[in-house]
Amino acid sequence: MITRFSKTFLIAVFALFLLGSLALLHPPSRTYVDTWTGDFFGEGGFIPPSPQQGVRGKVIMPKLGNATAKAELGRATWKLMHTMTLRFPEEPTQDERDALTNYFHLTSRLYPCGECAAEFQLLLKKYPPQTSSRRAAATWLCYLHNQVNHRLGKPEFDCANLDATYDCGCGDEPLGSSTGGSANDPMDLERDPSKDKKAQGLVKGGRAAVS
Ligand SMILES: Cc1cc2nc3c(=O)[nH]c(=O)nc-3n(C[C@H](O)[C@H](O)[C@H](O)COP(=O)(O)OP(=O)(O)OC[C@H]3O[C@@H](n4cnc5c(N)ncnc54)[C@H](O)[C@@H]3O)c2cc1C
Ligand SMILES: *[C@@H]1O[C@H](CO)[C@@H](O)[C@H](O)[C@H]1NC(C)=O
Repeated sequence: MITRFSKTFLIAVFALFLLGSLALLHPPSRTYVDTWTGDFFGEGGFIPPSPQQGVRGKVIMPKLGNATAKAELGRATWKLMHTMTLRFPEEPTQDERDALTNYFHLTSRLYPCGECAAEFQLLLKKYPPQTSSRRAAATWLCYLHNQVNHRLGKPEFDCANLDATYDCGCGDEPLGSSTGGSANDPMDLERDPSKDKKAQGLVKGGRAAVS
């Protein structure tokens, strides 16, 4: 015989059980921000900020009106970037590849000529940085520079002359001497083009532009 008291007790226990299950259906978020340091915490503890933060995004600088300054800045920047790709490791690590990719995306945000940066962003979208080798990176940038040359009505540069034009006297192996691939064909990007997104398309585009 169930007493009135035990009946009430059972109902209370059942109600508590129901409430408990409801709470379990929506566990509280276990990611929170430390209001003091601004750090993110998750189930595994501290979550470091994404290294990509700030790398991709819109153009930061305004238009550069002075044509003389714009041309000087352009020549200096092309020199820097071509020399960079021509000294880039022949067999880069993933970290080195990421560094170069991020460099170009950061440049397309921070380039001090805003209208140039906007064009550069469009180009990067169409032709993502090729970073699997020195040859891939140097040839890709030469191709990109030629796209800018074309838009500005400048003559096309023969990418076979990269070594001669950008000999920094650093004592590096010239592009043409690297093993594998056909040494005299600057459009032969690398040993394994499948490592680069769109590398095949770029090779074809490059050939078409040269012939
Ligand atoms: C990312 C970027 C975007 C730009 N956008 C604009 C823009 O929107 N509007 C604008 O007016 N200017 C722009 N510029 C500047 C422009 O590209 C030129 O730098 C500037 O007009 C000066 O031209 P230049 O004739 O002296 O030769 P540059 O194009 O500056 O080239 C310098 C030297 O590099 C060599 N070279 C030429 N082509 C290649 C190639 N394909 N590969 C390797 N080496 C080469 C040649 O020896 C040349 O003399 C931009 C520059 C950069 C870096
Ligand atoms: C344009 O830029 C050049 C080079 O930086 C500078 O010498 C010149 O004074 C500038 N012209 C004007 C009008 O500011």
